[in-house]
Amino acid sequence: MESKTGYKWDFYTASTCYLPQAHCLWRYRWRILLCICTPCIVTGCLLVYIALALCLAITHTYHGGLSGTLIPLLDDYFIAKGTNSSSLLAPHPMRPFWKEELNREAFWNLIQHVMDRQHNTILRARKNISENGNSTLHSLNKTGCFSNSDKMWNPSDYFSLPPQIQRFIKYMRCRDYPLLINQPGVCVSKQNQSEAPMLLLVIKSQAENIKNRQAIRFTWGHSGLVRGQVGRGGLVHRVFLLGKTEAGSKADVEQESKTYGDIIMWDFLDTFFNLTLKDVLFWDWYAKHCANSRFVFKGDDDVFVRTPALLDYLDRQKSKEFVAGDLITAALPVRSENTKYFIPHGFYKGSYPSYPGGGGVVYSGALVPRLLAISKRVHLYPIDDVYLGMCLERLGVIPIHNPAFLTFDFTESEAKEPCAHHTILMVHKRSPEEMLKLWIETLEPKSECRNTQLRKTCLQKKKKK
Ligand SMILES: *[C@@H]1O[C@H](CO)[C@@H](O)[C@H](O)[C@H]1NC(C)=O
Ligand SMILES: *[C@@H]1O[C@H](CO)[C@@H](O)[C@H](O)[C@H]1NC(C)=O
Ligand SMILES: *[C@@H]1O[C@H](CO)[C@@H](O)[C@H](O)[C@H]1NC(C)=O
Ligand SMILES: *[C@@H]1O[C@H](CO)[C@@H](O)[C@H](O)[C@H]1NC(C)=O
Ligand SMILES: *[C@@H]1O[C@H](CO)[C@@H](O)[C@H](O)[C@H]1NC(C)=O
Ligand SMILES: *[C@@H]1O[C@H](CO)[C@@H](O)[C@H](O)[C@H]1NC(C)=O
Repeated sequence: MESKTGYKWDFYTASTCYLPQAHCLWRYRWRILLCICTPCIVTGCLLVYIALALCLAITHTYHGGLSGTLIPLLDDYFIAKGTNSSSLLAPHPMRPFWKEELNREAFWNLIQHVMDRQHNTILRARKNISENGNSTLHSLNKTGCFSNSDKMWNPSDYFSLPPQIQRFIKYMRCRDYPLLINQPGVCVSKQNQSEAPMLLLVIKSQAENIKNRQAIRFTWGHSGLVRGQVGRGGLVHRVFLLGKTEAGSKADVEQESKTYGDIIMWDFLDTFFNLTLKDVLFWDWYAKHCANSRFVFKGDDDVFVRTPALLDYLDRQKSKEFVAGDLITAALPVRSENTKYFIPHGFYKGSYPSYPGGGGVVYSGALVPRLLAISKRVHLYPIDDVYLGMCLERLGVIPIHNPAFLTFDFTESEAKEPCAHHTILMVHKRSPEEMLKLWIETLEPKSECRNTQLRKTCLQKKKKK
């Protein structure tokens, strides 16, 4: 009964409570809903809040840079002084964009890598890196010539190199050779002191090549006012660059210099691997004695140049960063031991930058001071034209390929054409006798060769047709 009455009571209270029924039920459901959903909503809000906070934290760190624990090994990376993390700064790279490890693959690459670092404001401040990988300062000999570079080599490796490479390595930091014969006045015009030369012809020669020099003097290397083929031409001067030879008599060269006033001679041995010295020392000489000339043609003493046509071509060039020649691209070091160009794997690794063939190249005078400055940051290289390419690459100057500069002579079919030599500005490997013949032809061309166009690449020829 008790349970019954209880039931009744329960029922009664329940019924009174749920009267009117719909209202009561609604209230009950609302409470349950509230009980269940409140934690859900709170958790949801919390999650959204956390997500937002995380997003903000991440974007803040990204803009602010290296703060917090997101980027480990902070000390390994350079942060410029005075630029602490701040949202005002642009984002900077998370990883270093330079090569951390020294490039030890070959001797030249290694010492150049060290030199690059010593001239890099960022890396210089970080560590003092020496060539033997030791972080102590590299002790340079005060003369700048003889350093401990031999230590880089395991003696057996070093002595297995060809003797000319050994000699090159021993002297490659030495560039302060004194002048034995100078021509300080060669660029000063006798008639008109204020007239600037249009072109300076700079010819690498050797003491014993007197026949070549004579041929050049009386043909394409004539000094003075030179008319263009069609244009008005300009003032041309000429110098020969010589080193000393063991056999050659210096007295003969001195006599020749007195007669013609066009010989510059330095006190270093005139060998193939020392030819780069002639470029570097010439740039220095130019800055002191001929800095007003508009263009420089640098060539060997066995090339033929159509100077009047060259003057016409140069007259059209306005750029201060002008370099033109027979552009050699994607060249690799010569690895066959029996050529004079041989470069061992241990000395240089990698391909060469684009460079104009050394037989003959022409560049604007305004470029010379820049070449001189950058050459102090590039170690001498045994191949002179490659060295010019290395310097140009660092200056960001792109040489122009001109097919009228012919370093490797005509193709067989081209050579048969009667007017072939009227299509070039420069051709390599011509004897003194040939120079004379070609010069006469240049001055008085046969009638069918009068209006010949300059040589073009096959592609250009096709386009014209
Ligand atoms: C950058 O931060 C470091 C350490 O947090 C502090 O010693 C230094 O003074 C700060 N530099 C600047 C310019 O605020
Ligand atoms: C690196 O060398 C320079 C020049 O001798 C010196 O002033 C600087 O303190 C050196 N830096 C370090 C990190 O040793
Ligand atoms: C670095 O060079 C110094 C002096 O030549 C030498 O004492 C030191 O042991 C070298 N350190 C290493 C790691 O080669
Ligand atoms: C520097 O070069 C001279 C040669 O002119 C040599 O006598 C000297 O021992 C060299 N010094 C060092 C520290 O290598
Ligand atoms: C000398 O050369 C300058 C520059 O080319 C020219 O302006 C001037 O007229 C010349 N003077 C004489 C006397 O020829
Ligand atoms: C370059 O010239 C110097 C100075 O005369 C000489 O000692 C050296 O052996 C020459 N180098 C080469 C590779 O012939």
